[in-house]
Amino acid sequence: MRLDLQHDASELAMKRHSVRTYLPRMVEERELAICMAPLTDETGIFGAKTRYAAVQVDQTPSKLGTYGMIRDAKTFLAAVVSKKELRAGYLQVGYQLEQTVLIATDNGMGTCWLGGTFDKTAFFQAAGVDEEEQLVIVLPIGYPSGKTRLLEHIVRGTAGSANRRPFEKLFFQAANGEPLSEKMAGALALPLSCVRLAPSAINKQPWRVFVSPTAAYFYLDGGKEKPTIPDIRYVDLGIAMCHFEAGAIQAGLQGSWVFEDPELSVPMAYEFIGAWIINKN
Ligand SMILES: Cc1cc2nc3c(=O)[nH]c(=O)nc-3n(C[C@H](O)[C@H](O)[C@H](O)COP(=O)(O)O)c2cc1C
Repeated sequence: MRLDLQHDASELAMKRHSVRTYLPRMVEERELAICMAPLTDETGIFGAKTRYAAVQVDQTPSKLGTYGMIRDAKTFLAAVVSKKELRAGYLQVGYQLEQTVLIATDNGMGTCWLGGTFDKTAFFQAAGVDEEEQLVIVLPIGYPSGKTRLLEHIVRGTAGSANRRPFEKLFFQAANGEPLSEKMAGALALPLSCVRLAPSAINKQPWRVFVSPTAAYFYLDGGKEKPTIPDIRYVDLGIAMCHFEAGAIQAGLQGSWVFEDPELSVPMAYEFIGAWIINKN
């Protein structure tokens, strides 16, 4: 992953929040191109084909509804995957589109992941989705109005959006499964703190990471609802992996993603997603 950021990833992870009210202005072409730079086949790590359509409200005949969730956004990015590879596609959308979110935040813009609250028919048409494809996410992108409407306060309060689980409930020692404190995490404390601040659908934070001296192993905690494909929580995992890598780059670490299950002893409900192996120099 190559992210050209002016601010530290950890600062951006802290600053980013879902923006649901925008100034009624289209994103300028140059700024949109900068934000969309990571959305290419080359940046995918999950081997899926993903496609991103920029949808401009003023150039679209039908009304792009979001059930009132988003106000005045004029630009949306629609993330589309092939129905043949939904698991890898969902993971990859999370990993790639969160890079766009970080770049947008870096440039003072706002975004909000939408996995459910958008008018499917209108966005299908606007993004030219065909029968072989699935529209996974719609992401409004634009200039925040600075105002928060009552509906947003309610949505944020219901999801507990301002809160995150404690470090020790998300991260564990690979050797024995015991909780990992921020202090014990050493050089990985910064990338893991970026994971902890990541956005997730209904703020469920389904990411669990097991850490050894040489690697960070990412799992999806399915809880009582075992993931069925497609499951929006795969997007959450892709986002978390993006935050981890951005934080690792900031911390001066080098590593690479591998996808072979290490068969660690973990709870039954955990599904292995991928591991970041630290390159030792
Ligand atoms: C994959 C995904 C899907 C989401 N879908 C919706 C959605 O349909 N509607 C909505 O209002 N917010 C949606 N959100 C936003 C989350 O509710 C929000 O990220 C979470 O509550 C944390 O709040 P924050 O982003 O302000 O930190 C989604 C987030 C993610 C990552």
